[in-house]
Amino acid sequence: MSSSLDPNHKGRVSLTPIVSEEVGEVAEMASVIWPAAYGSILQPEQIDYMLGRMYGREQLHNDLVKGVCMWWICLDGERVGFLAVGPIDVRGECPLHKFYLLPAVQGKGCGSQAFARLVEILSDEGTRRIELRVNRHNGAAIGFYRKNGFSIDGEDCLDIGDGFVMDDFLMGRDLPS
Ligand SMILES: CC(C)(COP(=O)(O)OP(=O)(O)OC[C@H]1O[C@@H](n2cnc3c(N)ncnc32)[C@H](O)[C@@H]1OP(=O)(O)O)[C@@H](O)C(=O)NCCC(=O)NCCS
Repeated sequence: MSSSLDPNHKGRVSLTPIVSEEVGEVAEMASVIWPAAYGSILQPEQIDYMLGRMYGREQLHNDLVKGVCMWWICLDGERVGFLAVGPIDVRGECPLHKFYLLPAVQGKGCGSQAFARLVEILSDEGTRRIELRVNRHNGAAIGFYRKNGFSIDGEDCLDIGDGFVMDDFLMGRDLPS
């Protein structure tokens, strides 16, 4: 039987809510994914700085308390990534904050399956539009979002402190009402 981490494996993707006790495991997975995803785009110092800022236990707990929803992305029941969205605002706009898969499962449809499930969940919750920021040099993710119905609406270079910036495209996609 092939494992979900086998590069040729195609399986069933599901989303499972991430609970407060699991935020340390989210940080651990991010520390595997981020250097692979951003190693050619960002300096190692910036990767460490952003991981520390965005994936500290307290920060992730606060995100959950503020109404951010997080899910494990599971392939045949095995955790292979995670997603974070929300909260949905009064206009029905929902920010997508985090969308990450382990390197071994990238590029074989898992992200698109997870995104389709996310759209179902968010539509049921009354979301009319999903918005996100993506590093302007992250061509693979930009290609992925385009393929999944997003377009580039703008750009923003955000000062995040310690001499670092997030130089991003702003992308959005309307959901059918
Ligand atoms: C972005 C990510 C979630 C996409 O999930 P995925 O399972 O790899 O993507 P899929 O296999 O579903 O790809 C669907 C489409 O996206 C596009 N795409 C995916 N990888 C791509 C790449 N490396 N270059 C260009 N386009 C790409 C293609 O159009 C692809 O369709 P195709 O297979 O018919 O050509 C995943 O690759 C990932 O975690 N990447 C690293 C972290 C990251 O950058 N996250 C986004 C932060 S904003």
